[in-house]
Amino acid sequence: MKDVHRPHPGRGGRAAAGGALLVLLWSVTSLPLLAQVPPPPRGRPAGARPEVLDQVGIDQKLDAQVPLDLAFRDEAGRAVRLGDYFGDKPVVLSLVYYDCPMLCTQVISGLVSTLRGLSFTPGEEFVSVTVSFDPREQPALAAAKKQSYIQRLGRPEAAAGWHFLTGDEAAIKALTGAVGFRYAWDKSLEQFAHASGIMVLTPQGKISRYFYGVDYAPRDLRLGLVEASAGRVGSLADQVLLLCYHYDPTTGKYGVIVMNVLRLAGALTVAALFALMIYSWRRNKARQGGGKVGYSHPGLAPLLFYPVPFAPEQASSFAGEVDALYLALVGLTAVVSLSIAGLELYFAIKYRRRRADEVPPEIEGSRALEVIWIVVPLVVFLGIFLWSASIYFRLYRPPKEALEIFVTGKQWMWRVQHPDGQREINALHLPVGRRIKLTMTSEDVIHSFFIPAFRTKNDVVPGRYTTTWFEPIKTGSYHLFCTEYCGTQHSGMIGTVTVMEPSDYQAWLSGGASTGSPAAAGQKLFASLACNTCHRGPGGQTGRGPAIEGLFGKEVRLTSGAAVTADEAYIRESVLDPRAKVVAGYEPIMPTFQGQVSEEQILQLIAYIKSVGPQGQVTDGAGAGATQGPGPASARPVQAGGSGQSGTRSN
Ligand code: CUA
Repeated sequence: MKDVHRPHPGRGGRAAAGGALLVLLWSVTSLPLLAQVPPPPRGRPAGARPEVLDQVGIDQKLDAQVPLDLAFRDEAGRAVRLGDYFGDKPVVLSLVYYDCPMLCTQVISGLVSTLRGLSFTPGEEFVSVTVSFDPREQPALAAAKKQSYIQRLGRPEAAAGWHFLTGDEAAIKALTGAVGFRYAWDKSLEQFAHASGIMVLTPQGKISRYFYGVDYAPRDLRLGLVEASAGRVGSLADQVLLLCYHYDPTTGKYGVIVMNVLRLAGALTVAALFALMIYSWRRNKARQGGGKVGYSHPGLAPLLFYPVPFAPEQASSFAGEVDALYLALVGLTAVVSLSIAGLELYFAIKYRRRRADEVPPEIEGSRALEVIWIVVPLVVFLGIFLWSASIYFRLYRPPKEALEIFVTGKQWMWRVQHPDGQREINALHLPVGRRIKLTMTSEDVIHSFFIPAFRTKNDVVPGRYTTTWFEPIKTGSYHLFCTEYCGTQHSGMIGTVTVMEPSDYQAWLSGGASTGSPAAAGQKLFASLACNTCHRGPGGQTGRGPAIEGLFGKEVRLTSGAAVTADEAYIRESVLDPRAKVVAGYEPIMPTFQGQVSEEQILQLIAYIKSVGPQGQVTDGAGAGATQGPGPASARPVQAGGSGQSGTRSN
């Protein structure tokens, strides 16, 4: 019985097919399983059945050698040795008696119908031997049976490979004893009582598989023959199938081994990941010579020691922090999973079943252990949460002194406007070492603004402003992506972020066509939309609408009694839906400007309102119809001639 637990033969092709990795994975994960396989039920329990039935059955003698020198007669009456049919092919052995009115007919009929569904033919891929266990039967009867069954199989060539033997009692007893086939003569019925089943033997005459009953699945028999031949018959597909199906000695059938299927899938995944790693590493190496676009980090060369192998360059002040957190998460995951796998392996060996009748001792709980495994992970994982939260809050709270740049997403481009009025599309030029705040909105659907090298990503949502900030610390070119599926050209919504020395940035700002600062454009818009007839500034206390002087960032009291801060979102809403929040002391008479101003124009209006100081003095270039365009004071990089005519603007 112990033989059942051994890995079965016939896996010769596995190493070749799966490679060393597969075998490693396999052997590691197999250990616990092997330790758990229950022994197959042994014989049958003594019951109240007729005595004769107790003498009947099939005992598994897997791997036992069948005596090959036994003498029989074939269907032509010639003296043969059992060994004549062994040598280079697996053998299907069926034990019947030809005159049997019941089971035996069905055993051979079952075999015939199985063979009809199998591409293997007796005599080609295997040999079929049918032996009568009734010593009184003669070759003539065997020949008649053979003829009828070969005819039913419909393959005349099978006659050469399917032998119907008869023999004397001694040879029969020796053979049936060797394969564990027990039968008895039932005097009351004048018949043999016997079990039914067929066996697959290796070419050397060892018992490889038992199949019970009268109905054998062609796939099971096929796999059994492939295994018994140690892979010499059958195809590569059979070998792969054998990885996923496993002979179960208790049922005599091949069942799906879910674990093996999972292991196979897992091994393929690992192999694919390795391939991807190597591919991306080689690609990075190839790129290193060719300019500074992309993630050409020189540190990628010693891949194994690089902190985060796939991470792009760390080009912002946040990048290191985000990577450290990421690395900690990966490390924690690795530690947890490795310790679980290690303990599993250790326990599987330490507590394996040593004897078949071993009864394990009762295990009581341990409070100390339970407290440890609840408290330690709780502290560790809450720590990770706090760490992440602190990074998150800093990422999403732009500092006041940051240089503000407006970004508008639109199917399918990024439009950028600098404080000095410089515009660009699908490009973003930045000075190094300067804190940058992006105020972003969308004109159509949700986009997402992503600069991997800065570890910064934020959704760009229609109808509201989102902000993000970062400080570029390294000059170079970096990718800019949209990471929200936004339509058919989503994948084309990409751009380049160029981080320059501050002096280069100034030079860049002064070159090219600037259309004036957003604040200056906003002021013109404020006049052309006739906003100033009601919001009369400077000193617009006499106007029908609230004054805009010093409004931005102040607290505003509403008619409802509530108070709101006059931020970008508030101003935007007041332009598009004036009745949503009416300032205390004013009538809701303002018309909506929905549809008359674009998102970009609203941003310009906001920039203008921001730039208007408390006493009506315009803090900066947007004042008094100035066409020169430095932006709001807080957002000015360095004084420079970055301006042009503000008159022309495009949508
Ligand atoms: Cu915009 Cu995807």
